[in-house]
Amino acid sequence: MRRLSFLLAFIADLVAVLASSKDLHVPKCPATVQAKFTTQIPSGAACPQTNVDLCYTDTSLNLVFTALGETAFYFDPKQTTNGDIWKYEVMEAFIYKGSDDPQTYFEYEVSPNNVTFNALIYNPSRASKANAALDHAFIANPFSDGFAVNTVLDKPNKKWTSHSTIPLALFTAEKPRGTTWRMNFFRTITNPSKYPSQQLCGWKNTGQANFHITPAFGVVKFV
Ligand SMILES: *[C@@H]1O[C@H](CO)[C@@H](O)[C@H](O)[C@H]1NC(C)=O
Repeated sequence: MRRLSFLLAFIADLVAVLASSKDLHVPKCPATVQAKFTTQIPSGAACPQTNVDLCYTDTSLNLVFTALGETAFYFDPKQTTNGDIWKYEVMEAFIYKGSDDPQTYFEYEVSPNNVTFNALIYNPSRASKANAALDHAFIANPFSDGFAVNTVLDKPNKKWTSHSTIPLALFTAEKPRGTTWRMNFFRTITNPSKYPSQQLCGWKNTGQANFHITPAFGVVKFV
């Protein structure tokens, strides 16, 4: 009997450890936590590594995106804030405050040209199904609103890094300690000879060649 209760306690611990390993626990800056991914969506084939280091202050979510194994650093130099930068190479975060599979969320992207895409997404089907609505509203003036970005290319080391600051007021989430969020992170990879075809890489596999599948978003806790 005692042995059984030991076993049950052990199993309960194991389940707790496995459950928490699914979560990302974001600390207050300057500590950080890293979401790292190395696989394609949906095939699971290899992707060059992408890291997203996260932390929060009382007023902002700070993200450091790092793309490794980069060869093309491909973007359209004519594109500016909220242009279709996702047609080329970007790193992305989909962000929602709350624990639901969201129908509205913030889509943030940054390109190797230091250009950002900032949109509130309306996705009532949670899966952008054929014929379902998928709409967006842009944040028109992110750099007047408290957003910041700084992107550095390191071509000899096949790497680009972007430091991004997103104001927590966007989510009514200042002083976020203790809150639960849903997020996913992505990277698109292409080059002039492959364009417009892209490799899609992601943190949580959405199971389709489509990022807008919100039940796949990971659980993120601000601790
Ligand atoms: C990136 O763009 C932001 C916003 O315009 C600007 O503040 C920053 O200096 C830029 N960084 C680089 C490296 O171009």
